[in-house]
Amino acid sequence: MSTNAAKNLFIYGSLLCFAVLVILTIDTMGTLDKRAPEITEKVDAGKKVWHKYDCIGCHTILGNGSYFAPDMTKATERKPKGYLKKFLLNPRSIKPDAAMPKLGLSEEEADNLIAFLEWTSKVDTNDWPPKPVLAAAAAAGTASTGQMLFRKNDCAACHQIAGLGGTAGPDLTHTGSKQPDIDWHIRHLKDPASVVENSAMPAFAHLSDEEIRMLAEYLITLK
Ligand code: HEC
Ligand code: HEC
Repeated sequence: MSTNAAKNLFIYGSLLCFAVLVILTIDTMGTLDKRAPEITEKVDAGKKVWHKYDCIGCHTILGNGSYFAPDMTKATERKPKGYLKKFLLNPRSIKPDAAMPKLGLSEEEADNLIAFLEWTSKVDTNDWPPKPVLAAAAAAGTASTGQMLFRKNDCAACHQIAGLGGTAGPDLTHTGSKQPDIDWHIRHLKDPASVVENSAMPAFAHLSDEEIRMLAEYLITLK
């Protein structure tokens, strides 16, 4: 190869690599914008509340924080806002043995926080944090209609049965012994607060009577 050809190869090769770098950078910036939803004033205020009460001292969010308490990145995905608000204002009003202290948030601070958590829930994190492996395993296998409805309505987001599920509501492994009355369960599912004073469980009144009955029949078998 002559000196001239080598010089040209060097110059054009470098230019090409630089052009590829610029194009890929622009492409990445473009997708990053699409991966995070719009930041409103409420979201911004909520983030300040998150810092003010040092939530990160116990929780992780978007990969940062402590491992003492559950990850908050997708907190609003499986829990209704009404429930979250009650919990934030006073954790023990929902879960008598909650380890999270009552932090003294105002109603407005709680609303802003929830807006912030809704925002993080919408950020595309490539499915991080991963769903619990055991919960996925439990979805396989044979199941009664009541069990399927239990899964379909994501009751396990808040309840454990035999060690699988969330801990926001009571463990249901023996709920049939504690509450054997099927009519109680039917009323409770339609409108929890009608049988449990100040209940933080969301109502499932949108289900059909048939579905509610199937669920209740399943619940009383849990002994
Ligand atoms: C001292 C540690 C601590 C601090 C500080 C703390 N939390 Fe928690 N939080 C917990 C623990 C532990 C749980 C798990 C439930 C329980 O046992 O209390 C929890 C649960 C939650 C839940 C989930 C409820 C559920 O049932 O899924 C939310 C939402 C939450 N925390 C939000 C926050 C926010 C927002 C802040 C800051 C304003 C905060 N936490 C500050 C320890 C803490
Ligand atoms: C957002 C969280 C949440 C979801 C989702 C949820 N629950 Fe609950 N559940 C609670 C809380 C909190 C309580 C305690 C207050 C009460 O008894 O109403 C509770 C109580 C119960 C109880 C009474 C248990 C006892 O020992 O007192 C049953 C049964 C129950 N839930 C069944 C279900 C079923 C079935 C589903 C799905 C269709 C469901 N829950 C979905 C939060 C939830």
